[in-house]
Amino acid sequence: MIAGSSGSRLPINVAFATTRADGKVVPLYHLYTGGPDDGAFKRAVDDGIVTGKGHDINVVDSGGSKLVIVNVGKQADLTSDDLRMAAGYACGWLRSHTKLPRQAGLFVSQAAIANGEVQLLVEGWELRNDSVKRNPKARQAETAVTLHIVANSRTKGDGLEQQVQRGQLIGKYARWVRHIGNLRASESPPHVLASDIRRLLVGLKGVSYPCGSVLNEAFYEGNDHPHNNRRFGSFLSVAVGSEERPHGVLAHYKCGRPGAKTVAIVGKGVAFDTGGLLRKPGPEAMNDMFLDDLGAEEATALFAFLAECGAPFNLVLMVNFTYNMDGTFPRDIITARNGMLIEVNHTDAEGRLTLIDGNDFVVERFKPDFVIDIATLTGAAMTALGGRVAMFSSDKADQPMSALYDAITKSGIGFWPMPMPFNQASLLDSDEADLVNTDLTKKYGCGTAALFLALALAETNRRCSTRTVLWHMDIAGMMEVGKPKGYQIPGADPMSFIGLAYGLLALAQRRKLLAPLPVKKTK
Ligand code: BES
Ligand code: MN
Ligand code: ZN
Repeated sequence: MIAGSSGSRLPINVAFATTRADGKVVPLYHLYTGGPDDGAFKRAVDDGIVTGKGHDINVVDSGGSKLVIVNVGKQADLTSDDLRMAAGYACGWLRSHTKLPRQAGLFVSQAAIANGEVQLLVEGWELRNDSVKRNPKARQAETAVTLHIVANSRTKGDGLEQQVQRGQLIGKYARWVRHIGNLRASESPPHVLASDIRRLLVGLKGVSYPCGSVLNEAFYEGNDHPHNNRRFGSFLSVAVGSEERPHGVLAHYKCGRPGAKTVAIVGKGVAFDTGGLLRKPGPEAMNDMFLDDLGAEEATALFAFLAECGAPFNLVLMVNFTYNMDGTFPRDIITARNGMLIEVNHTDAEGRLTLIDGNDFVVERFKPDFVIDIATLTGAAMTALGGRVAMFSSDKADQPMSALYDAITKSGIGFWPMPMPFNQASLLDSDEADLVNTDLTKKYGCGTAALFLALALAETNRRCSTRTVLWHMDIAGMMEVGKPKGYQIPGADPMSFIGLAYGLLALAQRRKLLAPLPVKKTK
């Protein structure tokens, strides 16, 4: 991907059209102006060659070069994600036409740059310019195509290079999420996942590893450990069932600005979820559970992306990996890192057990303003919101929370706010412990899971005299792509990372919310 300013003609160019309310297809001129193929484009559209259905691809010849025209869809309801989709369709079409040149041009207008649409197009292209197929024949059936972004007229400081660079970065990390997420259970035991993450983060500016390169069981056990003096008892109650021992990564990004806020990101890293002794009932329930570490991959991608962008706030990443196998017995009472007693009334509600100890550790050690947890936490989130939408909830409905939600929504990626059911806290009452881990009546399963995290964090905040706010992301509904579509390819779905990346960068632009207040100069 190259951002240039010459109008030189590439053998293949890409253009976009849209369908008006009256059914007529028109060029999406604000995305495509001033290029050498403008005439051919207009003629193709005027002649009715470009058909009206969204995502139709039409190829026309224009003076020896080819113009690939993608209909973006209905003009009236275009979203940011439709632009990603359109670029994804164009890229997918070119990838599978392997006899055509592996370079394509896209002329972008000033308006497209001003609206940030170039980044969306680059993201869609980069997301699709990937293959997760293992079969060599299938891999050869399509090959990578480089997109050249060309702008004929620019305004000073229009930020085109930054959009191209950010779009590429998002693409790079999203593809990493896919590839690591897609590793099957036996290919990716905890120590492999932890070292994959360590390898990804190596060399990022401002990033350090306060507790050593990779966390191991001695760290989680916490007795006499130089970096941790409390047992991750809740996490270890999940890990106890597997011969493969738990591992994780803790990384710290310091932005170097005085007064900067700190955001901790904690990801669920269950390398495979069998359900434990209360075993998942069959292949429909269990077969996709090699993806149950996706929250950890997305958390890592989010951390790495923000660090690489030089985000103006501090970040902490904590991901802890384990398998969920036959470990804790139902009704066992365990002690979490924050000291709470938890009665495990369901061994399949393991994600929340792994998360609360990570939350407790990062709050104790870094006193963050916010902790974001990202987790494929409940089937109920999928039941509530369907596929393609992630649940967003917080223990504090305040201004940063709604600003973050707005910014995520603008990214065109589906997140939906759900209430934190503090008024139903009795659903998690236990006769003998502080909490049960599951509301077995299953009234609001994704809500009571969020509630469990919020109640555990409240105890941590009490214990540590902190006021860390929880931003909870249940991504079970956005875990997996079924059929190929636009930029989507079947398998692990990296999109919630992108929504959160947009959200946090937008918050950082707003003083008081995430960005530090300017420091007064003293003479
Ligand atoms: N990893 C699952 C949640 C899940 C299910 C994600 C399906 C994606 C697709 C989680 O650990 C789990 O098993 N949750 C249980 C909780 C229940 C026992 C309260 C669930 O959702 O059934
Ligand atoms: Mn489970
Ligand atoms: Zn799980």
